[in-house]
Amino acid sequence: MPNLPLPHILGVDAVGEIVELGEEVTGVHVGDRVIPAAGFTLREEDDHNRPLAISPSFVVPGVHVWGSYAQYMEIPARWVVRNDTGLSPAEIATLPVVLGTSVRAVKQVGEVKAGQTVLVTAGASGSGHMHIQVAKALGARVAATVRSDEKGEFVKAQGADLVINTRTENLAERVKAWTDGKGVDVAIDNVGGSELIKTIDAVRPLGIVVLYGFMGGEHAQINVRELFFTQKQLRGTIFADPEDLQWGLEQVRAGRIRPALDRTFPLNQAAEAHRLIAANQVKGNFVLLPWAE
Ligand SMILES: NC(=O)c1ccc[n+]([C@@H]2O[C@H](COP(=O)([O-])OP(=O)(O)OC[C@H]3O[C@@H](n4cnc5c(N)ncnc54)[C@H](OP(=O)(O)O)[C@@H]3O)[C@@H](O)[C@H]2O)c1
Repeated sequence: MPNLPLPHILGVDAVGEIVELGEEVTGVHVGDRVIPAAGFTLREEDDHNRPLAISPSFVVPGVHVWGSYAQYMEIPARWVVRNDTGLSPAEIATLPVVLGTSVRAVKQVGEVKAGQTVLVTAGASGSGHMHIQVAKALGARVAATVRSDEKGEFVKAQGADLVINTRTENLAERVKAWTDGKGVDVAIDNVGGSELIKTIDAVRPLGIVVLYGFMGGEHAQINVRELFFTQKQLRGTIFADPEDLQWGLEQVRAGRIRPALDRTFPLNQAAEAHRLIAANQVKGNFVLLPWAE
């Protein structure tokens, strides 16, 4: 993160128990099990903005303020959600960012509907596996890309109907064959860079490409003429509104969406967890346990 004042504490997602309340706090109690929102406003007068991320006082823990690689966190009381999922703390800790932002990207920005076809690139990533599950929960058919057969098995288990290994297969050809030559209705792109053009090519005319991530690079070259003739829409998305997380948690409670907890590490092994993520050795999400030795 450029220009971050040091020292800094990383970590967006968290789950825990309230141990202390501010003086004027009502509605929550010491001992309540809660999930902090993965991004919130500092000033109450900004709360009405939608999407919330445009609010002037919107911050993301671990990015703009100190985050969750810690045993205690301070969160504005209006930004905690009661934890009644029945899942283990480690499983819940995988959810807030990927669940909220995936609902935002797939349901709100991508406008995915039952019966549509959806392409998710980097389907085994922490975000991609949740895009697959949200699209399936909405009743869509889902194609997902991976770069190894092992991750192909993982995305199938997340509900992908078609798996494309982009190291050995041609994305456009597989998608066209799967959609009777039309292209998918919506693509959720986690890769960007020079791969983005292939994602755009896999979408049908008038279809939607949601720009969610850029693991393949921040810059892409696109053919403007082709885009306006085919009237495809490129839409950016960032973070989530509280309603997105609430909708996602309802799906979790109903058993339609499941966390993909790959491994846990004690907090003091955070560097090893980061090393494995940088080496693409993660399927779903890792979780750090702040109280473990
Ligand atoms: N818009 C938002 O609100 C939002 C929120 C959170 C994150 N993001 C963005 O989403 C992206 C994904 O983050 P994440 O935490 O989900 O990542 P992650 O869990 O670290 O996923 C990494 C996986 O993506 C695949 N991958 C990595 N580089 C690739 C490349 N060049 N081409 C194709 N696949 C590649 C690899 O899987 P394979 O080995 O199968 O290829 C890798 O295991 C990031 O760019 C992040 O900034 C956006």
